[in-house]
Amino acid sequence: AETGYDLWLRYRPVEPAWQQRYAGRVSHYVVADRPTLIAATDELRRGVAGMLGYEPVGRETVMGDGAVVLGTGASPLIAPLGLPLAKLGREGFLIRSATIEGRRVTVIAGNADIGVLYGVFRFLKLIQTRQPIDALDVSDAPKLRLRVLNHWDNLDRYVERGYAGQSIWDWQKLPGHLDPRYTYYARANASIGINGTVLTNVNANADALRPEWLAKVKALAGVFRPYGIKVYLTARFSAPIELGGLKTADPLDPQVAAWWKAKVDEIYRLIPDFGGLLVKANSEGQPGPNDYKRSHADGANMLADALAPHGGTLMWRAFVYAAENPDDRHKQAYTEFAPLDGKFRDNVLVQVKNGAIDFQPREPFHPLFGAMPRTPLMMEFQITKEYLGFATHLAYLGTMWEEVLQADTFRPRKGTSVAQVLESGATTGMAGVANIGSDSNWSGSQFDQANWYAFGRFAWDPDARAEPIARDWAAMTWGNDPAVTGPIVGMMMASREAVVDYMTPLGLGHLMATGHHYGPGPWVADLARPEWNPTYYHKADASGIGFDRTRTGTDAVGQYAAPVAAQFGDGKRVPEKLLLWFHHVPWGHRMRSGRSLWDELVTRYDRGVAGVAAMQADWTALEGKVDDRRWREVRDFLAIQRDEAQWWRDASIAYFQSVSKRPLPAGHAAPA
Ligand code: GCU
Repeated sequence: AETGYDLWLRYRPVEPAWQQRYAGRVSHYVVADRPTLIAATDELRRGVAGMLGYEPVGRETVMGDGAVVLGTGASPLIAPLGLPLAKLGREGFLIRSATIEGRRVTVIAGNADIGVLYGVFRFLKLIQTRQPIDALDVSDAPKLRLRVLNHWDNLDRYVERGYAGQSIWDWQKLPGHLDPRYTYYARANASIGINGTVLTNVNANADALRPEWLAKVKALAGVFRPYGIKVYLTARFSAPIELGGLKTADPLDPQVAAWWKAKVDEIYRLIPDFGGLLVKANSEGQPGPNDYKRSHADGANMLADALAPHGGTLMWRAFVYAAENPDDRHKQAYTEFAPLDGKFRDNVLVQVKNGAIDFQPREPFHPLFGAMPRTPLMMEFQITKEYLGFATHLAYLGTMWEEVLQADTFRPRKGTSVAQVLESGATTGMAGVANIGSDSNWSGSQFDQANWYAFGRFAWDPDARAEPIARDWAAMTWGNDPAVTGPIVGMMMASREAVVDYMTPLGLGHLMATGHHYGPGPWVADLARPEWNPTYYHKADASGIGFDRTRTGTDAVGQYAAPVAAQFGDGKRVPEKLLLWFHHVPWGHRMRSGRSLWDELVTRYDRGVAGVAAMQADWTALEGKVDDRRWREVRDFLAIQRDEAQWWRDASIAYFQSVSKRPLPAGHAAPA
């Protein structure tokens, strides 16, 4: 039955030839009794029932060929095999074809139960993607420790920048009623290795820390626990005032520290494996330590000290820019945080957005990556597409994340990618602003599920590549017919670049309409804070367009390692895709194509629209090859995207032409 809730765990029947091949390998499994192992065997049963058409039974021991033996290296059947588990860490796993008691079996082993669950999901993925399972020797382990979703969910179920309906946390019915979707959610996350979830919005009020809400949080933690997922909450910095009745939230005030310590102790009494707290401070109106002339480190460390005795983690966001600060917004996070390197407690992770502005369709990597070698930095990606057309525009973000993660920071030396920066240090992590809601398709659109999936894969392995991830997702979500997955992967891989082209080509950014951030608004110039205005970012005038961030301008390039600064700062060497991010360029400037900058800009806008048209054509050809319900939804959304790509193109060209006063190049239509 089509429930719409399956995501990439659809488990549809395999083709008969594969059925025969697989069946003999999964006749039964050896029963296990701890919660995570029960979750693992439940998943195995569900997956095999769906794909191979029978339910493998649980037995006390290896009864014959085809047993799947799950457990840790310490379990009596597995221990004698002497598997090389040691180097795989707590969450790693190994899948091996082996012989036990003369029977041909498949062993799925980990150092801890959670590794076994991850191994089962990988085993099922082999079947989902039609790989042989006869002679397996697979081992894997996550490269980052914290792989967390950030829900921007408020307690009234409104999701900030959420395009998939209400929050899935049905607070009103918690803790009395546990919606089955919480379990589906946990399964989906565990299948891609996500091991934490921040339930509340970074802008949420402090109410989630009240006892009556903590009881609800505890109930969710109970659902997620077998799946290896810890819960976290956001901590509003002024909570001691709002909930505790104190006069101050000054982090150096002993009463304030004592209030937080008592609050954290209270949380851990309820939820012994609580993950920790996430804080947005002194950013966009949120309270923070700067209100008391204290630094971000003062604020973070005070909370970290409350968490440390319980093993909790404090994630402190570096997304800051101040109304009173006239400096280039691009520079403000680095200016505030880089001097604090080495000043944070061991259980603090500084959470840095991928770029210095705000989740634009394309930004250069954030200059903080590599600049704080004595501070663990975690990546913050935005899965929900605030600036990329919400849920209706198809934009696979895997390519964007790969681009950022593979960028060379040159810190401390050439060849040090952002991914390597993230992987270094004792505490490591990646956060993804979730795109999950109560819509039956979970993410607002079919293709946005892929971004949730890809986030998990990159958090597990920041050196992963976008294309194989898209391939896996497409096969698991749309079936294994190459005539289907081929075009789908092609669409996905080209999709984000098309969005860049029709919204913000050549290094433009932050050109969207006010407030909701949907649709074009490059002309907007009258907002209260200058750095909210698109005109602040494109700086188009009669002489040209682009933001001079070189030494003749704001010198934001100076925050990158010298070789990066030299490249970005040189109009001839900067990649053209970032040209206008760093340079103010005359309209007549000759581009690599031979065209003038103006002509190139128009060409890119049209290329973006054509990219969407190409996706539409590919999708039209898939009619009848995928189920009708999902096919029609995607068709409709692509039509919306096509119209709106045209809208972006027309509005942007019309506006910029009013400034450049140049004619459109031959073959390009006047804006409608
Ligand atoms: C963006 C977004 C806000 C969000 C903020 C953040 O500015 O528009 O809704 O609160 O990022 O990341 O804190």
